[in-house]
Amino acid sequence: MAREQFGICAEPNLHGSYLLFNALDDKNAFIRTALSRLPALFEDYGDQFSEANLTGVIAIGANYWDEFYPQARPKHLSAFPAMNSDDRLAPASSVDIYIELRSDRADVNHIVSSKVCQLLADSVELIEHIQAFRFLDGRDLTGFVDGTENPQGMRRREVALVKEADDAEFSSGSYLHTQRYQHNLTLWNSLQNKEQEDVYGRTKLDNIEYESEDKPLTAHTKRTSLKDEQGNAIEIVRQSMPYGDMKRQGLFFVSYCHSPKPFEIMLKSMIHGDDHGNVDHLLKYTQAETGAAFFAPSLSFLATLEDK
Ligand code: HEM
Repeated sequence: MAREQFGICAEPNLHGSYLLFNALDDKNAFIRTALSRLPALFEDYGDQFSEANLTGVIAIGANYWDEFYPQARPKHLSAFPAMNSDDRLAPASSVDIYIELRSDRADVNHIVSSKVCQLLADSVELIEHIQAFRFLDGRDLTGFVDGTENPQGMRRREVALVKEADDAEFSSGSYLHTQRYQHNLTLWNSLQNKEQEDVYGRTKLDNIEYESEDKPLTAHTKRTSLKDEQGNAIEIVRQSMPYGDMKRQGLFFVSYCHSPKPFEIMLKSMIHGDDHGNVDHLLKYTQAETGAAFFAPSLSFLATLEDK
């Protein structure tokens, strides 16, 4: 059975470093070799700084995959589902390579990020580097705990990883979506506590879910807690983290799944809403500025890349 990349299902950390690159022309062979060596690099630094709980993820953009690995493509890999309605936007950005580093030490993330950039050298252009951090007890910068209803324990692997029976060559890989949201905290902080809680459908301080009958249809947790036609929960594994400084701040949203569909269904429910026009009111206070779709192949697949 193929082994997944350890960062996909890892528990939350104190610090995140997200590197987004574009590949330069004619560098594919070099990039394949460089990426095949990254898991060993992560492991070495993970051993050296064992208390930091370092994990990494390497993922390939949907629009770059065929150039990167023309031999085969993950079955459901498709472009980011850009959408918009009124002032609710989910734009798509062009990104070829995604590297996620998470640990409990910002300095360790910095060292490993530098090594990643050195190894990829002039085969890529760095588009964006987001340095993210844990806020209080795992809260988003709006002050609400983020991640409570995430799948836990072994369920994470079931939700996040492609199964052997679904796509043998790409089993234990994961479909990944990212969006960088920028918050309007001035507007958000002008709301009363109860108004903020209604936006999420959860209480703020003690993080309790509203009773179903009290939850507005426009609450974020109403719009994203969905079931399929057979009544099964539609799930993703979220590994988002807050980022920012005094100029811009928000959430770097990260979702892993065995299929790209659940993310798309949830995003559609947030932006386009239900048949009665109930859209996600969280989007009044935050806006997605980027969006990208990737596939994070298994460690076993990455190990084969050096010879391709
Ligand atoms: C700025 C953007 C976002 C913020 C600040 C945010 C924050 C939160 C918070 C605080 C919760 C409640 C606690 C929890 O269960 O984690 C939550 C729940 C959730 N969010 Fe988001 N979220 C954002 C975007 C998204 C997006 C884009 C999606 C998917 C397309 C999503 C999917 C979910 C799901 C599935 C839940 C759990 C719902 C439940 O079962 O109750 N979120 N989010």
